[in-house]
Amino acid sequence: MTSRVAVIGAGPCGLSQLRAFVQAQTEGSEIPELVCFEKQSDWGGLWNYTWRTGLDQYGETVHGSMYRYLWSNGPKECLEFADYTFDEHFQQPIPSFPPREVLYDYIAGRAKQSNLRKYIQFNTVVKQVIYDEAANQFNLKVKDLVADGDRTEIFDYVIVGTGHFSVPNVPMFEGIQKFPGRVLHGHDFREAREFEGKNLLIVGSSYSAEDIALQTHKYGANSVTISYRTSPMGFAWPAGIEEVPLLMKLDGKTAHFKDGTCKEVDAIILCTGYQHHFPFMADSLRLKTNNRLYPDQLYKGVVWQDNPKLMYLGMQDQYYTFNMFDAQAWYARDVVLGAIALPSAAERATDIADWREKEAASSNPFEDIDFQTDYVKDLCVMTDYPPIDLNLIAEMFKEWEHHKEESITGYRDRAFRSPCTGTVAPIHHTPWAEAMDDSMECFLATASPAGVA
Ligand SMILES: Cc1cc2nc3c(=O)[nH]c(=O)nc-3n(C[C@H](O)[C@H](O)[C@H](O)COP(=O)(O)OP(=O)(O)OC[C@H]3O[C@@H](n4cnc5c(N)ncnc54)[C@H](O)[C@@H]3O)c2cc1C
Ligand SMILES: NC(=O)c1ccc[n+]([C@@H]2O[C@H](COP(=O)([O-])OP(=O)(O)OC[C@H]3O[C@@H](n4cnc5c(N)ncnc54)[C@H](OP(=O)(O)O)[C@@H]3O)[C@@H](O)[C@H]2O)c1
Repeated sequence: MTSRVAVIGAGPCGLSQLRAFVQAQTEGSEIPELVCFEKQSDWGGLWNYTWRTGLDQYGETVHGSMYRYLWSNGPKECLEFADYTFDEHFQQPIPSFPPREVLYDYIAGRAKQSNLRKYIQFNTVVKQVIYDEAANQFNLKVKDLVADGDRTEIFDYVIVGTGHFSVPNVPMFEGIQKFPGRVLHGHDFREAREFEGKNLLIVGSSYSAEDIALQTHKYGANSVTISYRTSPMGFAWPAGIEEVPLLMKLDGKTAHFKDGTCKEVDAIILCTGYQHHFPFMADSLRLKTNNRLYPDQLYKGVVWQDNPKLMYLGMQDQYYTFNMFDAQAWYARDVVLGAIALPSAAERATDIADWREKEAASSNPFEDIDFQTDYVKDLCVMTDYPPIDLNLIAEMFKEWEHHKEESITGYRDRAFRSPCTGTVAPIHHTPWAEAMDDSMECFLATASPAGVA
């Protein structure tokens, strides 16, 4: 009897998984029955922009955390699919830091090429996953949001690709309940122009804090104050952005910081990270971790240690994204197809412990990049994922870190070389700090857009 595989989520990870199976089928392998459940009405995950916040039209939590005018924060060359290059998709070389719409188009282009839509049940949310020990199968309770109907389906394997940058981590600060202005988490941030002319306080010191500070500054905030808990990002910020120690309390509009300084602010955005949150997974199957490079209980970062018929994709903190998801998906596919035999539980536990020891020894972003590169290499050698120059990618990530140190407003104006085709990206026609139009049409225009010198 054909086995059944459930893929939860049709974001980049879920789509990588479907693509991996279709590729094996193209090469002549028999593949299991695939059913992908996606709660949104289209694919692309976070890259499928939504204006909605809070609850959606069906009363489900809104997944999207991306906002208008979002541009890739890493070079596109570092995330390129080895089996579907940017050159193939766009038929012209494009700059290294595309806006969201352009990367969405790239993700969707590969999905269309493999005709993946037929495997996906959209507007269908997975509500519960339990394992039936007697039958050795998973029972999935899913809800068709349009028909408002529940049903239970049975699967041999479950692959979770629901992401982990969607459910906000929201800390409490004294006095925040009486703050006379807008308070939101980065998950609900959509439109930078809302903060035009305002004095904005951002809490957090990672990618969201960095990018939302730059965005709101670019679109006219009067001032942006970034409050850090552990350490400042330390970039040479443009005038109008500054970093201060942790927010201690709010007294009306006055924010008090750990160093005794204070500032009057009009709005607060909490860029305080996200939770790995899988309420639909039975307790014994649920990944519980903070945002880190090697979450526990996942052999090869993918296979659930206590039940190898359950796999998770993309649960790591991410330097690498799309091609790491591919490497994981190709590996998961080969486990399902029996092309890769898993070692004993004890050997798997030792392997997990070894990787976590290496993770603990990594002490700065450069070592973290090397760690994640080694991890992706380890996966790639085990499957037929097409060769990709991972050493070049590691070098490019490090160069990118240096570019950010040199200019936090100018790092997106640099160009990188494809690890797949060798194509060197052109420089974008408009410096990022002045590029207000983030449409694909404007980005792909090779000459200056109308009205821009
Ligand atoms: C603000 C922001 C900006 C980012 N920018 C970049 C960037 O510039 N470059 C980069 O490489 N990465 C970026 N990322 C990282 C991002 O995590 C990855 O690029 C990628 O989207 C992860 O893919 P995923 O499939 O794991 O998860 P997601 O993209 O989150 O997709 C998960 C999918 O699962 C679905 N889903 C969730 N729960 C259920 C359920 N119960 N039932 C059915 N379906 C469900 C969701 O609707 C969604 O479609 C950014 C992240 C954030 C938050
Ligand atoms: N394309 C883009 O431009 C773009 C934009 C935004 C986000 N992203 C992506 O989105 C993902 C998530 O990034 P993220 O920055 O949201 O999350 P993150 O990297 O997990 O960082 C969370 C931040 O919240 C801080 N924090 C947590 N609890 C806190 C508390 N109680 N008080 C104060 N600070 C607290 C942490 O501080 P400590 O350091 O003290 O722990 C850390 O700085 C990343 O993959 C990133 O690349 C991309």
